[in-house]
Amino acid sequence: MADYQRPTGTQDILPEPRIPGHQDPGGASDAAYWRWIEDTAREVAARYGYRPVELPAYEHTELFARGVGAGPDIVEKEMFTFRPRPTSDALTLRPEFTAGFARAYLQNGMGSWPQPVKLYTIGPVFRYERPQANRYRQHSQFNCECIGESDPLADFEIMSLLWDYFSALGMKGLRFQLNSIGAPAARKAYVSDVLVPWLQARSADLPEIDRERLAKNPLRVFDSKEERTRAMLEDAPLLADHIDAASSEHFATLRTYLDDNGLAYAVDPRLVRGLDYYARTVFEIHVEGIGAQSALCGGGRYDGLIELLGGQPTPGVGFGAGIERAIAVLRGMDIAPPGLRDPEVFAVYFDEPTKRAAVGLCARLRAAGIGAQCDYGSKNLRKQMKAAFRSGARFAMIIGETELAAGTAMVKDLVAGEQGEVALDGIEAHVRTVLGAV
Ligand code: HAM
Repeated sequence: MADYQRPTGTQDILPEPRIPGHQDPGGASDAAYWRWIEDTAREVAARYGYRPVELPAYEHTELFARGVGAGPDIVEKEMFTFRPRPTSDALTLRPEFTAGFARAYLQNGMGSWPQPVKLYTIGPVFRYERPQANRYRQHSQFNCECIGESDPLADFEIMSLLWDYFSALGMKGLRFQLNSIGAPAARKAYVSDVLVPWLQARSADLPEIDRERLAKNPLRVFDSKEERTRAMLEDAPLLADHIDAASSEHFATLRTYLDDNGLAYAVDPRLVRGLDYYARTVFEIHVEGIGAQSALCGGGRYDGLIELLGGQPTPGVGFGAGIERAIAVLRGMDIAPPGLRDPEVFAVYFDEPTKRAAVGLCARLRAAGIGAQCDYGSKNLRKQMKAAFRSGARFAMIIGETELAAGTAMVKDLVAGEQGEVALDGIEAHVRTVLGAV
């Protein structure tokens, strides 16, 4: 066993091994899925006019404590917080992206850009959770945010982008869970005047963990996984019946857009989501068959967040979608990424002068956009040909003394089995002609 192990809850994302007998039994490797998912996310985001950004992997701890709120588990229990020097301010590896987006919006004066500002990023997020299937301490998200627009069309757009992303990956049968948790004032009134008295009257029947939630963040009782609590909540007064009129109208309009465009959803009046910044729309997509951690994505509107962080009142809506969970879902649906292209050419040589010619041939082909490689040491012809077959190349191009003198290569088509001498001048066209005929 190696002396060093990767930390609990992290992963190595590896390519498929090219060693005989070590083929990945699952078919495509994670790295191939990863690249395909990322390419697809970027392509779909661009289709909607979202632009890529890169944000710091850590921020001041205070940003998350204030932005995400003190109650949610990801702030209270799961942050990776550190002080690089004893006198430094506390810093935290981002446990989510939205607070960082809001900070960047304010710090870079994006309020004076044309609104809304539509941005996305893809990268790792850190939560000190108990690892289990599809739950990691370092996971990655495709995260989109539309900041500066309150129209329900922005909510629709963000959900539609997500839908197109999953569709482009070939996922089928998905359905949003959707709810509106209303504006903060109406929600506060519901929590203090309706929910808390209702739960307090039944607190003797609540498990310890939910009694704690009741004391700290009563709405989160709706996130409870406890059977007893869930059964009790069947009869609970619902926030959906107490939201403000403007939020109801916003929700109705959003639903019209979803209906018009065939995005499947089910209204779930118990969906509240765990983070404090949400207002109005919240949504998730869950997929069966990937275990208890079934949320493929989650998001919603956060109209008060920018103001909470010191800016002008500015609406926002967005989502985060886990890359690892997308891979799990794709594997479960038997969907593989399109095959990666191996270099088409493997150049073979005999001695130092012919090796130099082979190196030159590879450079020339790559410059023309054709993948090429060759062996490194002084291996014999048989070993190099074996390596050529194993590499997945379509052609072996052999340069011996005769070919070197003639400015040619012996080109062997490893699929068709044919071979013939081809002049180096124009060899790119030869490769293209054969590949084009495949
Ligand atoms: P979230 O629901 O906490 O939302 O995370 C978004 C997604 O990240 C989840 O649906 C899941 O796919 C993935 N995920 C979360 N935790 C883990 C984990 N430990 N292991 C693997 N995957 C995980 C947010 O983070 C919000 N900031 C989303 C948002 C953006 N809302 C508005 N804008």
